[in-house]
Amino acid sequence: MCGIVGYVGNKKASPILINGLSKLEYRGYDSAGIATIESDGIKILKDKGRVSNLENIKEMASISGTVGIAHTRWATHGKPSKENAHPHFDNSNLFAVVHNGIIENYNELREFLINNGYKFYSQTDTEVIPNLVHFYFEQTNDVLTALKKTCNDLKGSYAIELIYKHTPNNLYVAKKDSPMVIGVSENENFVASDIPAVLNYTKKFYFLKDKEFAVLSKDEVKFYDFELNQIQKDIKEIDWDENSVTKNGYDDFMLKEIYEQPDSVRKTINSRLSDTGSYDFKDISIDKDYLTTINKIYIIACGTAMHAGLSAKSIIEKLCKISTEVDVASEFRYREPLIDNHTLCIFISQSGETADTIAALKLSKECGAKTIAITNVIGSSITREADYSILTYAGPEIAVASTKAYTAQVTILSMLAINFAEILGRCDEKVLEKVKQDVLSLPTKLENVLGTANSVKDIALKIYNEHDIFFIGRGIDHPIAMEGSLKLKEISYIHSDAYASGELKHGPIALIEDNTTVISIYTDAKLLQKSISNTQEVITRGAKSIVITNQNLDNNKFDYVIQIPEISEFLSPILAIVPLQFLAYYIAKQKNLDVDKPRNLAKSVTVE
Ligand code: G6P
Repeated sequence: MCGIVGYVGNKKASPILINGLSKLEYRGYDSAGIATIESDGIKILKDKGRVSNLENIKEMASISGTVGIAHTRWATHGKPSKENAHPHFDNSNLFAVVHNGIIENYNELREFLINNGYKFYSQTDTEVIPNLVHFYFEQTNDVLTALKKTCNDLKGSYAIELIYKHTPNNLYVAKKDSPMVIGVSENENFVASDIPAVLNYTKKFYFLKDKEFAVLSKDEVKFYDFELNQIQKDIKEIDWDENSVTKNGYDDFMLKEIYEQPDSVRKTINSRLSDTGSYDFKDISIDKDYLTTINKIYIIACGTAMHAGLSAKSIIEKLCKISTEVDVASEFRYREPLIDNHTLCIFISQSGETADTIAALKLSKECGAKTIAITNVIGSSITREADYSILTYAGPEIAVASTKAYTAQVTILSMLAINFAEILGRCDEKVLEKVKQDVLSLPTKLENVLGTANSVKDIALKIYNEHDIFFIGRGIDHPIAMEGSLKLKEISYIHSDAYASGELKHGPIALIEDNTTVISIYTDAKLLQKSISNTQEVITRGAKSIVITNQNLDNNKFDYVIQIPEISEFLSPILAIVPLQFLAYYIAKQKNLDVDKPRNLAKSVTVE
């Protein structure tokens, strides 16, 4: 999805903007551009393709402005091209704009502007913005008022950066339903879609709410509400370090992030562990009186975060005895879900900015549900919108395919379930105590499971050329299969499906032929024999079998067995996913694919 960066300070803006854009590459994009205010007006440089193309444009060396805006575009309206790349000028070249989001009524606005003599040079929805600003500036002679009037006319989502030739020390921004942070430092201030873009310049951030504006100069940032009343905002300090947004010696961010899991899970556990070993969720003021009125928990998310929800459904239902439904946000928001004040809705999102998840959250609040957000990014939109917010401590996740965010999400959800179960007292204390002990063992067991890398790599080298790979599992192993299959699809482009093992006979088994790879996951002793039978059924039909398990098996029955540490089945997704992450990674590497930036995918999906 589009990324934006902005700079106001004493230094030459272009290298800082380019550096910021390169840190946002993981979001996915197809063209890039920058605009700086030079002594003779605004200079725009842009092109199709990578940030490195932009960096190599000849005129780049000749721009020296200290105020600028920059953009990576993920095409929505109009193909990837130089003309459609941002920034966009207004017709008089006085204003330049970059925009992340979608202007839904741009056709109508375009027609209005054309009727008022404006011309358009791109196919984008964005180009209406600088021209509308110009239109209103003619009437008001004030940039901020012109920007506000423009935003008044816009339907849809936007994070806008605007510069004006005749206010060379300022950068204007506006936000609605698209992410934007403002980084502050001495004699320089920054704008970005995402913290990693400017993390090597500052750790202090303001988070803009929807329909707020900011005017940045090098010495200060002024904030305004939608009526243009000046408002105060608090700075938040981020504890991510610069190394967390570099590869730090690893070939790819994804591999680094897989290896970071013991640490990110440890940090996530510690964030909620008190000195006495009890869990501290006091900031989530959910008590027994409230919990006993809850008859349903919804977990709503997208992609891997949704799989984290599916992986936690079982621990919530079994320990808390509350029926729990997991849904994808893009479906949930349109299916008139049955929600009222007896429903608790939990939203999971690594970025905290996924458009569908935000919309589902707003809907749940309107219907009277209490809402809890689980995100990895402090100050993100979902964090601010929900009644309560719980952070995972995975640190910045750069690779598009999510790994450490997933294990941190399942960890925190499990801890939340245990905490609710303790409050409700509906579960045997011994069972709870055992799961709590197992939670503490997670970081060490994760370290141990990282040791499967080489054996998994050997398997990857044998199956990387396949066209279809199936994943099967029963109970808790089914969502693990789904997440393993998603990882494989995302980065290796091998077609893959995940099924509940018992469903095989109802269709998918027709696809099994000689040498089809089937990956089975067995982490629940109670279901082991039934799961083995399902694998046997595919082996009989010629399948090659790979098994991920923490049970004692007769290994001779299968082609490959990857052994992982024993743990309560509720927590096994956190361990069992690791070999599957490695498998997807090594297959993609063997196919020479860009592991961190797979085709067509974006890290942060901020449009519907
Ligand atoms: C995209 C990413 C996935 C992620 C999903 C949800 O599809 O590529 O890795 O799981 O969005 O993102 P979120 O930030 O809400 O967890």
